[in-house]
Amino acid sequence: MFSRRFKWDLEPTRFSRLIEEKKRAGARVLDLTESNPTRAGFDYPAEEILGALAQTPAMLYEPAPRGLPVAREAVAGYYAERGFDVDPERIHLTASTSEAYSFLFKLLADQGESVLVPQPSYPLFEFLAALEGVEMLPYELQYVHTAGWRIDFDSVEKAVAPKTRAIILVSPNNPTGSFTKLGEVERLNAICARHGLALIADEVFGDYGFGNDRGRAGSLVLNDPVLTFVMSGLSKVLALPQMKLGWIVTNGPLGLREEAIERLDFIADTFLSVSAPVQHSARAWLGLRRSMQVQILDRVRANLNWLRGATEESPFRLLNVEGGWYATLELPRQFTEEEWALTLLEKDDVLAHPGYFFDFPREAFLVLSLLPPAEEFREAISRILARVERS
Ligand SMILES: Cc1ncc(COP(=O)(O)O)c(C=O)c1O
Repeated sequence: MFSRRFKWDLEPTRFSRLIEEKKRAGARVLDLTESNPTRAGFDYPAEEILGALAQTPAMLYEPAPRGLPVAREAVAGYYAERGFDVDPERIHLTASTSEAYSFLFKLLADQGESVLVPQPSYPLFEFLAALEGVEMLPYELQYVHTAGWRIDFDSVEKAVAPKTRAIILVSPNNPTGSFTKLGEVERLNAICARHGLALIADEVFGDYGFGNDRGRAGSLVLNDPVLTFVMSGLSKVLALPQMKLGWIVTNGPLGLREEAIERLDFIADTFLSVSAPVQHSARAWLGLRRSMQVQILDRVRANLNWLRGATEESPFRLLNVEGGWYATLELPRQFTEEEWALTLLEKDDVLAHPGYFFDFPREAFLVLSLLPPAEEFREAISRILARVERS
């Protein structure tokens, strides 16, 4: 009856069953998996955000595969503010970055073909790819303390298969918080050129960098040695995931780029998924980005600094983070990360993701959201510390 692409077991896991039990028992769980910014106590200018939706032109249905010029110009304006000159004709609007992935998989890969994805990284890739019938082949990010994460290029070369169509990079990556470096982009360009692959850069957390490392690659929107797609969207840029606006910026050698854009027009025209009120609001919303990003950056930096202090003398190792909304703790390996996570939830009412959610290749890691309000974050970390010290 059902497609073979759907290959997931929908039975609740031990972890999700325990979360449900806790909820039923009315426990106040401190949630370090919270990645929804609208639940993290930020001060949103609600009137301005909602007011922008009530514009008369939004009553007109003007189907436009790339999206309305007014919205694409607003996205180009966002890149211009960051110092990147992007022609709005190279922009396609989508309902989210996740939808942007699905469009790119439709564009680039047939059933059974593959894309390379970083490991560890964001777990949704697996579902996005598999639902398009596309296989994901991992390449490794390697961690060297305290230098941080870097791409293991041997693993990239080994992962490229005859049916590989693209390499995905996420910068900064979720959850490692590592930026792609300039030298790495050069090497990725060379590999893509040699094997005829496209580069897909997920830059949703691109505005959330800490420190000022000149070796970091900025946005790849101007990367043109190979066919390149850059994705981002309002879910992170403005902390407004509910408004459902993402985009793809296409670049690359001229002929190839034009052909890709035309084909993306066709795919986007089949769905026309971005609503008119959202498109007409894009300019006003993007004008609010600094006020939102300052709050978020202040919060994640303060939580991260506090975490650094709290873990300095502890049996934890806090991995180097360059940006994004998450931090990773390495725990003593006397228990598996699943056992740590279950114990923390059961006994301490602290919810944190074990590293295997993100395909960490070895034990024992916990991934922590840096978004929760400081008090809640500190209390949760103190409970984790106490638990590890007692164990
Ligand atoms: C790296 C990364 N890419 C894409 C997404 C999805 O973003 P969107 O809400 O725009 O689909 C997320 C969401 O957390 C993410 O972490």
